Formats: sequence, C-alpha cells, structure tokens
Amino acid sequence: MTPKPLVIITPFNESQIQPVIYCAKENGMQIRVRSGGHDLEGLSYTSEEPFVILDLVNLREINVDVDKKTVWIQAGARLGELYYRIAEKSRTLGFPAGVCPTVGAGGHISGGGYGVLLRKYGLAADNVIDARIIDVNGRILDRKSMGEDLFWAIRGGGGTSFGVVLAWKLQLVDVPEKVTVFTIARTVEQNATNIVHRWQYIAHKLDEDLAVRVYIRRVNSSQDGKRTIQVSFQSLFLGSVDRLLPLMQRSFPELGLQREDCTEMSWIESTLYIYELPVEPLDVLLNRTQANIQYLKVKADYVQKPISKNGLEGIWKRFFEEEAEEALLVFVPYGGRMDEISESAIPFPHRAGNLYQIDYYVYWDEEEASERYLNWIRRLYSYMAPYVTKFPRAAYVNYRDLDIGVNNKGNTSYAQASIWGLKYFKNNFNKLVNVKTKVDPSNFFRNEQSIPPLYSRWTKNGK
Ligand code: FDA
Repeated sequence: MTPKPLVIITPFNESQIQPVIYCAKENGMQIRVRSGGHDLEGLSYTSEEPFVILDLVNLREINVDVDKKTVWIQAGARLGELYYRIAEKSRTLGFPAGVCPTVGAGGHISGGGYGVLLRKYGLAADNVIDARIIDVNGRILDRKSMGEDLFWAIRGGGGTSFGVVLAWKLQLVDVPEKVTVFTIARTVEQNATNIVHRWQYIAHKLDEDLAVRVYIRRVNSSQDGKRTIQVSFQSLFLGSVDRLLPLMQRSFPELGLQREDCTEMSWIESTLYIYELPVEPLDVLLNRTQANIQYLKVKADYVQKPISKNGLEGIWKRFFEEEAEEALLVFVPYGGRMDEISESAIPFPHRAGNLYQIDYYVYWDEEEASERYLNWIRRLYSYMAPYVTKFPRAAYVNYRDLDIGVNNKGNTSYAQASIWGLKYFKNNFNKLVNVKTKVDPSNFFRNEQSIPPLYSRWTKNGK
C-alpha cells in the first residue's frame, strides 16, 4: 500500500508556504513537495515517515517578456503551458525543456530537463537566469540573496534537497518560424540494425539544428503479422526542408530521407508532433492531466562508444520476451551545445564525450505483475553494462531510479548517498553536499535520494 500523507496543502500564494515549513518542523513531519507529480519513483507524494504534501498545483503563473526574451514561471506550471504561453506571444521564441507537456517546471528544471532542443541550446537548467526559493528557515530568496553556490545547486542538483523552488526565470531561445519534422520507421527486416549502428557514429556530430532520436519498440510486422523490432527515427530540424535534405544526404544517406517524409510546421506545433500527438488543437498543451499510465519503470544510461551490431541484436532479443510488449527504448543524441558546457557549470555532469543517452521504459497494467516487469527491465539494464559508462555507471537524476541506491533510513550518511550520488552527479556530488551542509545542516528537506549534509543525523524536528 502506498503510504498516504496526513494532509495535502495547496497554497495559492508564496506566503502560505512559510507556515507549512514552520509547522512541519515543529511537529517532526516531513514535507514532500509536488509540482507536476511526475517523479518516476513517486517521491513527491509518498514517504515512509509521517509526511504532508505541499502541492504547488495552484502556483502556475507564467509571464513572458518578449522584448527581453525571458519568462518567469511558477513551479506548479507545466511544460505544455510554458510552450503555449511563449507561442501566444511569439512564434520565433521557444524553450529547451522536456517533451512531455504535463511535466512540472518545479521538479523538471531542478533535475536538469532535456528535450529535442538539447543539441542546440542545452538543458532547461542551463537556461535558468534567476529563481525564487523558500529555504529551511522560511526565507524567500532570489539569485542575489541565495548566492551563487545555492543557485548552482538548484539548477540540476535534483528536487527537494535545498528548499522549495517557487519560480524560475528562464532565458528564452530563438527558433525559426518554420521547423521541419520527420519520422522514418524501419524494422530489422528493413535494415534497422545497420542504420542504428551507423546512427551512433553520426547523430552527435550532425549540425546542431538537427536532432534525430531513435525509438525502439516491438511491433507486429505489417507483412506477415509476426513480431518484429521497429526502429523509428524521429527528428526535429530548426530550419526548412530545403536546408535539411542536402544535410541528411551528406551525413546520413543510409536513412534514405525523402522530401515527402518531411513536414514543415511552427515550433509550437512540433512540440505536439514530438510527443506523438496531433498538431492541433494547440490548446491540448494546456491540459494538465497526465495520461493514465498504470505502472511504469524507467532507467537511463549514457553511451560513449558505439554499441556493436551484436550488442544491438542482444537488445532486440530481449524485446521479444513477453514483458516487452509495452516496452520502449529511446536513444537521445548528445553533442552540439552539450559538448561545449563544462561538466561543473551546473550539477548535471553528462557533457562532452557522451554520444547519446538511453532511456529505458517498461509499462504494465496489473500490480501483481510488477515483479515480472521490473525483473525484465533490470535484466536488460544488466545486459547493457558492457556498452555504457562505467566507474560510475552514470544515471540521470530526473529519471529517478531507486535501484541504483538510496539513503540510509533515519541516518543519511555521505558514504551511502555517494553510491547513487556519484552516478547522478559525478564529482559535482561533493559540491552539492557542501552546499547542503551550509543551507540545510539538519537535513529537513529530504527524501530517499536527497543530498545529505556532512556529519549530520536526521533530527526529529529539523532543529
Ligand atoms: P514532481 O512534482 O513529482 O517532483 C519531482 C521531484 O522534485 C520530487 O522529488 C519533488 O519532491 C521535487 N520537487 C517538485 N517540485 C519542487 C519544488 N518546487 N521545489 C523543490 N523540489 C521540488 N525528463 C526530461 O528531462 N525530459 C523529458 O522529456 C521527460 N519526459 C517525461 C515524461 C513522463 C511521462 C514522465 C513521468 C517524466 C518525464 N521526465 C522527463 C522526467 C521529469 O523531468 C522528472 O520526473 C521531473 O522531476 C518531474 O517534475 P515534476 O515537477 O513533474 O515532478
């Protein structure tokens, strides 16, 4: 049974949050902060300790300043709302964040946040220029008053650890009036293995206006109805089809892209296309309700050397197992702007040297079946070990995965936390611990994978 909170508080303004912090401290309660509620291990709404949920669902204002190319967005607003509000004011501005429109700004940007503009503009957190947070003492701080170390930590160090993020100020980015999208699907019988193999050598080196993602699924073959593996190459190009075609011909002829495969549309329409939704009506982006997913487990990896064809075939083999009916693998190309930003610029360390990120997803419907599906994804993850980063095997904090380690119950030790912390943050983990020690030494803001302060035990009332 999922543990339930004692109360869910849904403040309408910032000043209603401070009493919640004082009261929780006084009564030895834990606070779980929820913005969009998409935490992949449910840490924004469950806890083993007595807890209250601070749900920022009503803090969702978005103020776009077209002249300055900036926006203030409150933590409870969703990415789809952000994209919609930007497009309402300008068709040549956008923002580089995640593809799922119902993800919340609060948690997403706290952990980095990547989408299809990654190669051109980096992560959402790379484009944060100011923020408002409430700290453990109930003080409201902005960039100036929180100081650069704390401002560094909240841009990618993961939600929860450093306080409650109220709002972000973001730098908007330029997008052309028309972008070009395409999706080309190939089964293994149609040479998919060779094309993916080749993709690994070029996707990170392509023009940074171009992102070609790879989606791998099991499908029934259209010819004989037999199961097969289908690889879809889904792309966003920040330019016209006339510029894209020669570029693809030069760098990735194996895909055989034709003009008729391509569609030109506005950037805002492309946000729907990339999420595999019809491109109109646009106001679907304002829908705050998450698709009804029953059970889902996600993991992530980083690849620095192309996987051999044999290695890829081993993945296909696992996709023929029963549990993979609703499974999905996504290869997200890096390179471009990601290579230029230093590993320590913000806590997110996965920069130059990474060819692509792998996201693993498995879905199922019935709780009783959970073990089987979890075992399937864990087996696939073990199979992948030789092909991905090592020492540590890197992971992405926004694809939260408690399999890679959790804090000690009741006593957050540095040694225990570094097992998962070094995977998410590499050497930035130590700086995150130092910032935490300074701003929240009593470890009031915590969860199963929060940054621990040094030399401190959890205390009952956070004092
Ligand atoms: P939620 O409210 O659950 O918060 C996540 C974590 O941050 C929790 O630990 C929470 O306590 C904490 N937190 C939340 N609000 C806070 C605040 N205001 N202050 C301090 N801490 C806070 N990621 C990505 O990079 N690119 C993508 O394309 C996608 N796509 C995607 C699709 C789907 C369907 C899911 C479920 C998830 C993704 N993600 C993703 C992962 C997503 O970025 C990640 O789950 C975010 O943490 C979700 O942020 P929410 O605010 O929605 O979650």
